[in-house]
Amino acid sequence: MKSLHTLYFSPTGTTKRTVSAIAEAIGEVLNSYDITLPQNRVTTPVFGKDDLIIIGMPVYA
Ligand SMILES: Cc1cc2nc3c(=O)[nH]c(=O)nc-3n(C[C@H](O)[C@H](O)[C@H](O)COP(=O)(O)O)c2cc1C
Repeated sequence: MKSLHTLYFSPTGTTKRTVSAIAEAIGEVLNSYDITLPQNRVTTPVFGKDDLIIIGMPVYA
């Protein structure tokens, strides 16, 4: 693993806490991408082939 990142959609914070706990148990998180708000979805993150990204989305159905 080259670097560790988190990416989550989390309106009330539970997914953020869950993703962060998983990632922090693995290692040091380099970047966290909170895509909950539209202004945080303007650019697309670019990852390397050896990066590990912990991604979390809640069910809102
Ligand atoms: C409007 C609404 C709809 C939801 N629908 C579902 C659902 O269909 N199934 C489910 O398991 N949880 C459902 N949930 C529960 C959320 O997935 C759960 O609270 C989740 O932890 C929220 O994540 P967040 O804190 O990161 O926003 C719903 C919650 C809300 C507020």
